[in-house]
Parts: sequence; structure tokens; C-alpha cells
Amino acid sequence: MNVTVASSAGFCFGVNKAVNTVYEQIEKSRLPVYTLGPIIHNAIVVKDLAEKGVKVINSEEELEDIKEGTVIIRSHGVSKNMREKLNREGIVCVDATCPFVAKIHRIVEKDSSEGAVIIIVGDPDHPEVKGIKGWVNGPYHIINSPEEAKRLKFEPDEKITVVAQTTYNHQKFKEFVEIFKQMAYNIKVCSTVCSATEERQSEALEIAQKVDAMIVIGDRHSSNSRKLYDICKNRCKRTYFIETIVDLKTQPFQSVSDVGITAGASTPKNIIEEVQNYVRNEF
Ligand code: F3S
Repeated sequence: MNVTVASSAGFCFGVNKAVNTVYEQIEKSRLPVYTLGPIIHNAIVVKDLAEKGVKVINSEEELEDIKEGTVIIRSHGVSKNMREKLNREGIVCVDATCPFVAKIHRIVEKDSSEGAVIIIVGDPDHPEVKGIKGWVNGPYHIINSPEEAKRLKFEPDEKITVVAQTTYNHQKFKEFVEIFKQMAYNIKVCSTVCSATEERQSEALEIAQKVDAMIVIGDRHSSNSRKLYDICKNRCKRTYFIETIVDLKTQPFQSVSDVGITAGASTPKNIIEEVQNYVRNEF
């Protein structure tokens, strides 16, 4: 059995920073520690933090009820409005927004203030996209398919700025860029798919085309993990999406000699190692 583990599998630097920030705040703060939404899409990490007393704020109403403590903004970032709501007495706000996401906030805020229409390529329901749209001062569109891109119509002299969700499928974003080029409007395209995502997706693709079976480890709520699964499934029919080793034990793995393993940005290292050891020793 040959096992290839992607070197880019697991926590990216933004997620690592956000998770470490929470553990640091648990040590530092004598008051309650909160995260705005679960810090990452990983049930095991979130459970560990809950056991250490970290509470998850799930709505603006819940935030309003908090009188004191530290509130941590996760790597996905938040809207400008939410950021301002956190500047109030009794609350210490610790911002763990990934710098790649913060850069998109600055682009859309500046360009929309100068009159550009903003196009966000991404999943409208994803917290990162909801945060980005909250920095736009003016009209914007969120699109998630080439068909939606083709349906957009603008005035000939209108300025347009295009950004992408950081974890968007890099190849798919290139298709959007081609469509926008053909539109021949006054379009500025900012390739904001982050380098960690790009590297993870390219490596997954490379491994998936060489192996008999591919394992993608990630939380089912993690959009970057699901995108990795789609990318691998496209090249390797026997691609399995698992959250932990428990799911792996129920999968049929007969007559496989080459297995590839990758994992989403919110998958902890110990889960990847556990899966890797299991595949090496048990198959
Ligand atoms: Fe940041 Fe990219 Fe990770 S945007 S949070 S480094 S996936």
C-alpha cells in the first residue's frame, strides 16, 4: 500500500492563528471568552474549547446580551457594522480575521466608495461572503455560477470590481475571469483566492489523478473541504469524504494499492495523522 499525504493538508495559517488566539485568550482573560460563530468548522476543536469555557455567539441578539468579556472574531471576518457593534464598553474585541480576508474588505470598501459596482464570486450563505458584502458602500452582486455571471448587465462606463471568496475553486474562478474579460466592461479583477487554498487544491488534484482511492478529511460544514472533495472526485472516482477515522472504517477499500490523503483548512493535524496511520496499518 502506497500512501501519499498532501503536504498542504490541514490548518492553514489563518485558521491556525485564529485557533491559537482563542487558546491564548483562555489563558489571559479572567472574564468570559466568546467567539463570533464557531471558531472553525471542526466539531472536535469547538467541543474542546467549549469544555474550556469558551462560548459561541450565534446571533446579534446574543451579542447584545453580553455585558462583559472578550469576543473573538474568527478568520472569516465580519461586516463593518458588526465590527462597530463590538466597540462598546465592557467588551474586549480580539480580531482574528485572516489578513487575506481583511484585504478583500479593504478592496471592496475603497472601490465601492469610489463608485465601483462590486461583484463577489462566492457562496452567498458563507459567513466570509456575508462579511465581505458588509464592507461594500453601494451596489453589489454575489454570483456563484458562470450563468449568473453571464446574466449581469452594466452601463458601458460603469466601473466594476470583482473579488472572490478566499476558498473559492481556483480553476472555476479562472472561468469567471474569462467571462468578465469577454464582457469588455471597465472591469478590475482581483484574484483573491488565497495562496493556501490554491496550493491545497492544486496538490489535491495532482495526487487524485495518480491514486486508486482518495480520502478527503474535513467537517461536513466546511466549504473548503467540500470543494476539495469535488476537485478530487472529478479525477478519482473512489474519493471518500470523511470527518474522522470512524467514517473511514465503514468505507469499502478492497483492491487498492495507492491511496492519497488530503484535508481541509480546518482539519487538525492529529486527525490527519490518525487516518494516515490507520490506512498504512489496517488496509
Ligand atoms: Fe486565510 Fe486562506 Fe486560511 S484566507 S483562513 S489562509 S484558507
